[in-house]
Amino acid sequence: MTIAHPHATLTTTPVHDGPAGPQWWRSAVIYQVYPRSFADASGDGIGDLPGITSRLGHLAALGVDAIWLSPFYRSPQADAGYDVADYRDVDPIFGSLADVDRLLDRAHALDLRVIVDLVPNHTSDDHAWFQEALVAGPGSLARARYHFRDGRGAHGELPPNDWESIFGGPAWTRVDARPGAEASDHQWYLHMFDTRQPDLNWDLPEVRAEFEEILRFWLDRGVDGFRIDVAHGMVKAPGLPDWGGTVAMIDGAAANHGPMFDQDGVHDIYRSWHRVLAEYDGDRALVAEAWVEPLARLARYVRPDEMHQAFNFAFLTSRWQTSTLRTVITASLAASDEVGAPTTWVLSNHDVVRHTSRLGLSSPGARPNGIGHGDEQPDEALGLRRARAATLLMLALPGSAYLYQGEELGLPEHTALDDDLRQDPAWWRSGHTERGRDGCRVPLPWSRDAPSFGFSSGGRTWLPQPSSWSAYAADAQVGVPGSTLEMYRTALALRREHVLGAGSLAWVDDLAETSDAIVLVNGDVLVVTNLGTTPVPLPVGAHVLVSSGDLADGDARSLSVPTDTTVWVTLI
Ligand code: GLC
Repeated sequence: MTIAHPHATLTTTPVHDGPAGPQWWRSAVIYQVYPRSFADASGDGIGDLPGITSRLGHLAALGVDAIWLSPFYRSPQADAGYDVADYRDVDPIFGSLADVDRLLDRAHALDLRVIVDLVPNHTSDDHAWFQEALVAGPGSLARARYHFRDGRGAHGELPPNDWESIFGGPAWTRVDARPGAEASDHQWYLHMFDTRQPDLNWDLPEVRAEFEEILRFWLDRGVDGFRIDVAHGMVKAPGLPDWGGTVAMIDGAAANHGPMFDQDGVHDIYRSWHRVLAEYDGDRALVAEAWVEPLARLARYVRPDEMHQAFNFAFLTSRWQTSTLRTVITASLAASDEVGAPTTWVLSNHDVVRHTSRLGLSSPGARPNGIGHGDEQPDEALGLRRARAATLLMLALPGSAYLYQGEELGLPEHTALDDDLRQDPAWWRSGHTERGRDGCRVPLPWSRDAPSFGFSSGGRTWLPQPSSWSAYAADAQVGVPGSTLEMYRTALALRREHVLGAGSLAWVDDLAETSDAIVLVNGDVLVVTNLGTTPVPLPVGAHVLVSSGDLADGDARSLSVPTDTTVWVTLI
């Protein structure tokens, strides 16, 4: 295919044609709010729902379509709320159910949809079901809701199988090892994450029925959808066989072939949930957090009668390399087009080192599990430059895009947090070999000059903020040309105006041929991301819409794109 315009004819390879339907989630930009670190209205140093509500104006002005809230349910916070003790109530540190209603009302008034997190793979050990199971003892119906088993070895002293917890250590805990447990209770229970997160037994109809009711509870309250935690994990292979492999977060390569993940039976659950959501108006949506590879396998979660979206971790984990990124983008669109679903794009979330910092490492895009004292420290300026380029590339792609709070400020990871302040269970469960995820969860800076940079009305923060963050504060960037915040706002407005989320994609072959650049067209917008060292000249007459960095002068009539820079232009 060729594109003719007044000054050049471009040769392109079409990849994707546009959306398979009009629903909002096919093209939405969805902003992840991590409640404990977004904004604190109560003053205790931990973010809360009223804090979020008070700052929704920032998100409306940013130009996103929806927010996804990480868990705010009643929880002992052993895994920052991904250990739910009551799925129908709000933890007092975050507020109350009335605060959820106020948040939903305000968000909807601002035209922002709201997705909430659902954690169905495991409960907290404080959940009434697990407490009941502990008391009821071996062989009881209450234990059948989880995976309790006798141990192996002459005295049951060995775990029932060889599975490891994703946070490190065995995936089994013996009941009598728990504080206050019956000394004679030698059964073990399965937890793919922390000891305090027992896995539910999804073979039991009662478990399935309970979660359908939980979905309805929140749908009736007005939520627009759910992000499903560990969506590939609920069904385990019959008999929980030994495996011999190890599991890791996000990277599906090894984990997805184990007997604890991506079992065919899991899809029945999503078919039934699809039917529940379909009873409600407003195109409510389910998004899968599934660490599954290859992409064709991930696409099975978004078949027409299952979920609506799945996070594209293949994009998040790509190195900063032209060929890798091009391959992943092409493969992502092809895999989701095959089932009529939108692709999603994501660069950062609450489980990974922020992309500003990943891209500043000597191996750009490498994904350590946390960074701390003694580790390689990212090059902050280089990381930010590349992160801005990566973001502009992502926001130009058709499909739905996810942003993680603070990335619109260009926030780096906290890479020098004191180890004794770390709260992520991965830090101690891994025997201090993995620093974990605290560095991307530090409370946001809103005001350059205020205590706690305006995060908390009490001036406190549950994790310390680096002093260098004053330069990243939202109020230091609003209205400042070229700031990261203004770049995001401009890009999101242009994305809407040029309908890029619902657009098409074709690679532009001739501009990329001689350079280390990703060049694509989506509708009337030409996008150039230069990862090489040689500047890439723009076609003569290109009109620049937005750029992640300063452009260089090319020949007498044109501009060129320097290294680690993305630019969007129109040609006609
Ligand atoms: C998901 C969450 C992560 C959590 C884990 C266990 O991967 O994103 O934060 O620790 O599930 O619920």
